[in-house]
Amino acid sequence: MLRTLAKSLSLFILINSTVQGGLLPSKTASVTPSPSILQAFPNLTVVTHPLIQHKLTIMRDKATGTLLFGQLLREIALLLGYEVTRSLAVKEKIVETPVATAKGFAIDENEIVIVPIIRAGLGMADGLHTLIPTASQGHIGLYRDPVSKQAIEYFFKIPTVNNQTFIIVDPMLATGNSLLAAIDGLVKRGVAPEKIIVMTLVSVIDGVRTVSAKYPKVRIFTAAVDEKLNDHAYIIPGLGDAGDRLFRTK
Ligand code: URA
Repeated sequence: MLRTLAKSLSLFILINSTVQGGLLPSKTASVTPSPSILQAFPNLTVVTHPLIQHKLTIMRDKATGTLLFGQLLREIALLLGYEVTRSLAVKEKIVETPVATAKGFAIDENEIVIVPIIRAGLGMADGLHTLIPTASQGHIGLYRDPVSKQAIEYFFKIPTVNNQTFIIVDPMLATGNSLLAAIDGLVKRGVAPEKIIVMTLVSVIDGVRTVSAKYPKVRIFTAAVDEKLNDHAYIIPGLGDAGDRLFRTK
């Protein structure tokens, strides 16, 4: 009896192990940023759900091939999407069940725009689209100027702005330069920063700082905050170049 109780308790702890309020078993402590980081960035949510961490660890492994990498990216995007969409407004909706009238709720799926940053964001957008099939999709293309190192916009297509929530998706938040350029692009076209959410897989705190300093109202969701950037602006330990691994270009 005692053993069954202990088993149920540890399962409960495992299921609830997210930074946003659940209990943290000691085994997931290493993926949790320090309380001071979370305090410094109230716009940052680190989703440390065991399933996400499990899948992310397989993605980090250099032995993981393109097919599985893409599949896991889509799966994690779907799981992260659950947290990202938690604050969406719902409207009351009455439906008839086979036996009675039920009062339920509905989100306005037309008010969501998923915006991948090309290329690697495309893999994440697929997962989020599975979760919200009627959401619109925009696209942002950026390249890094070899001299200035700044992110330059070469493609930008979004629906007419009309108070929708824009979810920017990009797996790697490294320097924050391309994310900043993507947010700048949306704001320039009339999107309010509080209507922008960022969904990313692996971040470094410098990137979070760069984006948050200019746009403190943009909410950022990530599955991990890694140690640092190397001299080539790759995240350490990270998972390498997400675009190359997704599209087998190296
Ligand atoms: N973009 C990537 O794909 N990987 C990194 O580590 C940093 C930026």
